Amino acid sequence: MAGSVHIGFAKLATPTKGTIFVLTDKTLALSETASKVAADFPATLKKAAGTAKFEGGVLKLLDLLAPAGSSADRIVVVGLGEPDKMQLHDWLRLGGKIGGALASAEQVTIVLDRADAIPVEADQAAALAQGLALRCYRFDKYKTKPPENGTPAKSVKVTISTAGNVAAARAWKTESAVADGAAFARDLVNEPANALGPVEFADRLLALKDLGVVVEVLDEKALTRSKMGALLGVSQGSVRPPRVVVMTWKGGKAKDKPVAFVGKGVVFDTGGISIKPAAGMEDMKGDMGGAAAVAGLMHAVAARKAKANIVGIVGLVENMPDGHAQRPGDIVTSMSGQTIEVLNTDAEGRLVLADILTYIQKKAKPTHIVDLATLTGAIIVALGHHHAGMFCNKDDMATDLAAAGTHTGEKLWRMPLDPEYDKLIESKNADMKNIGGRWGGAITAAQFIQRFVENETPWAHLDVAGTAMGSPASDTNQSWASGFGVRLLDQYIRARFE
Ligand code: BES
Ligand code: MN
Ligand code: ZN
Repeated sequence: MAGSVHIGFAKLATPTKGTIFVLTDKTLALSETASKVAADFPATLKKAAGTAKFEGGVLKLLDLLAPAGSSADRIVVVGLGEPDKMQLHDWLRLGGKIGGALASAEQVTIVLDRADAIPVEADQAAALAQGLALRCYRFDKYKTKPPENGTPAKSVKVTISTAGNVAAARAWKTESAVADGAAFARDLVNEPANALGPVEFADRLLALKDLGVVVEVLDEKALTRSKMGALLGVSQGSVRPPRVVVMTWKGGKAKDKPVAFVGKGVVFDTGGISIKPAAGMEDMKGDMGGAAAVAGLMHAVAARKAKANIVGIVGLVENMPDGHAQRPGDIVTSMSGQTIEVLNTDAEGRLVLADILTYIQKKAKPTHIVDLATLTGAIIVALGHHHAGMFCNKDDMATDLAAAGTHTGEKLWRMPLDPEYDKLIESKNADMKNIGGRWGGAITAAQFIQRFVENETPWAHLDVAGTAMGSPASDTNQSWASGFGVRLLDQYIRARFE
């Protein structure tokens, strides 16, 4: 699933064919194995480096085509700069850089061996492989012709040749599960809404059963029986019926309560009767990025057999403006019993989250809750595309999540919650209204969601509107959808619950 690249590990040896990647550092030194890729290679490297002004800096590449004294097609020298200063995330990015430099190669060997003779650790090798896989992800299922230039459509075989190949291969088994989870999330977000309605989304989640996830699909009747008036209000303007899907992974002790992940899954957000402007509305096919991240996370934890109890829930609806659509001013009763005055039908995500939060708390009594949602344009105004907004009612949980963000490069920035902001969603006619006025829109949205968290359960809300899709291309992602949240939350689970 992780793109068109197949990655394997082999014992350290000097390759002779295809495209070969070797490592160097800021001294331009090579390991013994790497120095043998061509006759007199250390001298060739020094000369070529001088011409190309290549200094072995971290994440820098030097490309040598048809190298003399070698039967290889191409040798690419990869800079580590000062290798000891590299964080795990730098190894991931390095894998991404390599993935971006495969060009039309079909057979690739990476000689993963340091010039300073310090072994490349298994987790570093696996991070590199993961970065490579993430970078090679492509959403091209609707392309009927291959691209004119660049990477070939057919699959590439990459062999990572390293001294610790057995341990690295074991670590890669885990990391490839997570890369596959991210690819699963990206596929869902990239898919156009005509192909992916609530029912089709739910059907795709059934595939998680093969990994041992218990998947329950609630249809419209079941949602009505559960009295999910807020979610159903959003859905009622669409001809496509809603779904809620609960995914359960039991990898921990039977008696332990789970951690819950909750995702906004608006398969398309027109705004409803409070309709959005036409320009850019196509991006709202990605308004299920939170739900996709929860799905990708469930894939990841199940495929790597996480030793924790985890439950995921997604609310899948389409926000459309037909004759049945809800109107501004309508008052709906949420599953929690709290009433909501819907003053803007485009503030729909919080209505969906409210009911699935209540549902999952009743059903699973989670110890912690993390929700993810492409919830507000305001968070993009505040943070742009490089941090997701984090709202959290417990400092230690916020610290754990932020640490997972730094570790994976899926960064979070904490935003405030405060009773003063909560006042802004008081309603004259109901218990609350679904908008808070012009300022602090991401915060009032978070305050709204907090009203559905019971008994001070540790809870975090991640507003991923700026990071789940449409973020700039990076070393590890070239597609519109990023899969943001899968690696972050997998790391959070590993560090905190396993
Ligand atoms: N799905 C949007 C938020 C969004 C905007 C996601 C841009 C990704 C990119 C959400 O449902 C929405 O429309 N929010 C409104 C809330 C407002 C009406 C209070 C917004 O942000 O404008
Ligand atoms: Mn909206
Ligand atoms: Zn939305």
